[in-house]
This record gives sequence, structure tokens and C-alpha cells, in this order.
Amino acid sequence: MKPVRIAVFPVGGLGTRFLPATKAMPKEMLPIVDKPLIQYAVEEARAAGIEEIIFVTGRGKTAIEDHFDYAAELEQVLSSREKNGILTELREIPGPPGSISYTRQQEPLGLGHAVWCARHLVHNEPFAVLLADDLIKSDVPCLKQMVDAYEQVGGNIVAVTEVPQEHTNRYGIVAPGARKDRLVEIKGLVEKPKPEEAPSRTAVIGRYILQPVVLDILSNQQSGAGGEIQLTDAIAKALTVIPTHGFHFEGTRFDCGDKAGHVMANIAFALEREDIGADVRQYIARLQLT
Ligand code: G1P
Repeated sequence: MKPVRIAVFPVGGLGTRFLPATKAMPKEMLPIVDKPLIQYAVEEARAAGIEEIIFVTGRGKTAIEDHFDYAAELEQVLSSREKNGILTELREIPGPPGSISYTRQQEPLGLGHAVWCARHLVHNEPFAVLLADDLIKSDVPCLKQMVDAYEQVGGNIVAVTEVPQEHTNRYGIVAPGARKDRLVEIKGLVEKPKPEEAPSRTAVIGRYILQPVVLDILSNQQSGAGGEIQLTDAIAKALTVIPTHGFHFEGTRFDCGDKAGHVMANIAFALEREDIGADVRQYIARLQLT
């Protein structure tokens, strides 16, 4: 079995749910405390052994490229002020030279289309897909948990979690088969079904390990829910040829493309910080008294 070395990050989305913040700034650069969402996702990928990172970007996303580069002027200033801690931290963000590639999705034709835009960079290998606005707080990074499971079962694996029935129309929903520990067989997959039509409440979250055949299927460019080319549909089509599992990850997922989810993630991450956790905790305790 080939190891999972490559990760695709679709970062071309317009972030309309987060306007006006995302008018001139990519939604992936929204910070949780002091770190942009995309950096959390890239760190998670690297912790899972990912060596090559592919960003599928779009217009107005150059801040992401700048973030994963050295910042000579800033570094000079930090160095002259002997701020060595943050300097080292900034220097680590880009990773090894040449480990990040960029390609553009020219039109917003859907998540499946975005992933397909990376096909020439993925070669013929299994690859991960991470959606940065799904932020997962866990002891073991979510993708690492999935890579460990992948080494047992192979095939396609998608992260899943249970959602309220009334929210099925926001997610890819799984028709589940037998479950063993954290892994559940997937018998069917449907993108954003109405609550009354959903096969279950088990929803796909933005972490995938996929076989290259999914890219071949996406080449057909068939549009699905919302008129978009859906990744969910391509994984569903691959069910007959590729064993496919849902993975019930350990951890809490925050939908950071959503304003409330973003605020909640900030609180959860802030509370755990050594530098600001105590202040934030005190503030919240005071709020509860009033
Ligand atoms: C995408 C996928 C969907 C998945 C979701 C997870 O939807 O199409 O299947 O459940 O991410 O966040 P989006 O949120 O881009 O509409």
C-alpha cells in the first residue's frame, strides 16, 4: 500500500458566509486566536506525515502564498529586536523548500472541481484532502488518526460525525453499513440531502483520504447538488470499485466558515492557552454572573 504523502487544500472559495471580513481577505486566513485557519490545517497534515502540499487557490488568495513564505523585512525587524521565539516560529511556517505547490481553480464550479484541478500535481498516488474551515481540536491530529486507520483498511476514507437531523442539508451524508470501532462501512453517500430524505445523520467532515481513481471520475465533470461538481458524488461513484469507510474521529469539530462556529473555536482554543487562558476564563465567568 502506498503511503499518503500528498495533501490537497481547496482554498479557492469566496467565503460569502463570512462577509464583510472576507471581502479582501481569504477566509482561510481568518485567525483562531493568533493563527490562521489554513496554518492549523497544514500543521495537521504535516503531523500526519504529509510531505507535499497543494493549494488550489483562486483570485484574491495571494495572502495565503505570502503566509507560507519567508517575510524578509519583518524577520529583520524581529531579529534586531531579539524576538527570537516568534522569529523561529515564523520561519517554520513554509516547511521544506518546494514542498508547497499552487494551482488555480479559475471558476467556482464546486469542491469536486477544485480537487480535480490538482490532478496533475497528485500523480497516481493516494492523497488527502483537507478543508481548512473544518477545524478539529483533538489529542491526536485528525488526519493522523485517519492515516493510522488507512494503514489497516486502505481504500477511500472520509471523516464523519453525527449531526442533528435538521442539518443534513449542509453536509455529505453517509448510508452506513457495519461499524467496527471508529470505522464504519459506507454503502452510499449523498450530498446535502433534505432531512426527510437523508439516509442517516452521519455527516462527512472536511478530511478525506482518497485513491486517484476519484480524480478520473471527476474528469467526467458531472454536476450534482447546487449545480456544482461534488466530491461526494465522485466518492459515491467509486463505491463499487474502492472499499470506502467513514472514520468517527476523536475530537471536536468547529465549522469556522460559520460566524458562531468561528467564535466558539476562538473560545475553545483561547481557554487552553497558557498566555491568555486564565484571563478569558475569568471574563467568561464574569459574563455568567450578569
Ligand atoms: C463540503 C462537502 C460536504 C461536506 C462539508 C464538510 O461542503 O461538499 O460533503 O460535508 O464540506 O464541511 P461545503 O461546506 O463546502 O458546502
